[in-house]
Amino acid sequence: MTWGIGVLTVDDLPGCLALAQDRGWPAEDGKWRLLFELGTVFGARNTRGELVGTAVLTRYGNSLSVLSMVLVAARHGGQGLGRRLVTHALAGARTRTVALFATESGRPLYEKLGFTAVEALHTYIGTISGHPEPRSRPALPEDITAIRALDAAIVGAPREALLQRLFLFATQLQVLQHDNDIVGYGAVWRNLDQLMIGPVLATDRHAAATLIGDLASGADGSVRVDLLDHDCRLREWVQDAGATLRSSTTLMISGSPSLPGDRSRWYSPMMQALG
Ligand SMILES: CC(C)(COP(=O)(O)OP(=O)(O)OC[C@H]1O[C@@H](n2cnc3c(N)ncnc32)[C@H](O)[C@@H]1OP(=O)(O)O)[C@@H](O)C(=O)NCCC(=O)NCCS
Repeated sequence: MTWGIGVLTVDDLPGCLALAQDRGWPAEDGKWRLLFELGTVFGARNTRGELVGTAVLTRYGNSLSVLSMVLVAARHGGQGLGRRLVTHALAGARTRTVALFATESGRPLYEKLGFTAVEALHTYIGTISGHPEPRSRPALPEDITAIRALDAAIVGAPREALLQRLFLFATQLQVLQHDNDIVGYGAVWRNLDQLMIGPVLATDRHAAATLIGDLASGADGSVRVDLLDHDCRLREWVQDAGATLRSSTTLMISGSPSLPGDRSRWYSPMMQALG
C-alpha cells in the first residue's frame, strides 16, 4: 500500500476529526486547533487523497518533543502506516528526548520503535472538594516570567508559546505564591463537555493538592485530572477528595534514558497531547 505523508494545516481539521471518530475517539475540535498552532500535524493520504493517518509533534526547544494523535484509519490498520507516520514525525524532532503518552493499543508500536516506559499516568474524574477558601490566586499577565521559570526548571525545556497560549486557552489559570515566590501553577480548560485540570506543576505535593482543590472548587462540578504515577499520596488525596480512577496510559520516552528537568515536581500534564 502506498501513502503520501505531509504536513497538514488547520483546513484539514474536519479530516482529523473524522479520523479520530473512526477510531472511537471524540471529535476534540479545540484541542486539535491548539495542536495545529503549537505543533506540526503530519497526515497520510491514500491514493484516493483521503486522510487516513495522523501524528503530531510539538517541539520545546532542543531538549524535548512530545508526540501525539497517532491515528491510523481502521481500514488501513496493520499495514505499516503507524510505523511510517511515527518514523516520519520523529525524523523532524531534532530534540534530545521525545516523550508520549501511550494507549494500550499504541504501546507495541512505540516499543518496536525504541520507546521505553517511564511511568503510568492515571485519569481521575469526579467532583473534588478543596479548601472552602482558595489559597491560590488567578495568574496575572506579569506572572508569566515566574511561571516560565518554574515550568522550565520542572519540564527541562522552554515552553513559552504553550504558556503564553494558556492564558487565553484556560478557563482558569491559578498561581500559588509563598512570600514573593510562585511555588506552583495550574489551569482548568474545557474539552467538549469535560472540564480538565492541567497542567499542575508545583514545588511539592501540598502545593499541587492546593492548586487542584482550588481549581476543582472554581470549576463547580465534575472535573478530570490526569496524575503521574510517582506521587501516590497525591493520587490518594484526589480519590479521598471525591474523584474516581477511570483509566491509565503510559509515559514513554526515546532518545535519552530519562526526561529532562525534575519529573518529581511535574504532577499533571496540560493534556496528554502536549505534555
Ligand atoms: C496504534 C496504531 C496507530 C497502529 O497503527 P498501525 O498502522 O496499525 O501499525 P503498524 O501496522 O505500522 O504496526 C507497526 C508495528 O507495531 C506492531 N503493532 C501495532 N499494533 C500492535 C498491537 N496492537 N499489538 C502488537 N503489535 C502491534 C506491528 O506488528 C508492527 O510491527 P512490525 O513493523 O515489526 O511488523 C493504530 O492501531 C491506531 O490508530 N489505534 C487507535 C488509536 C491509538 O490508540 N493510537 C495510539 C495513541 S498513543
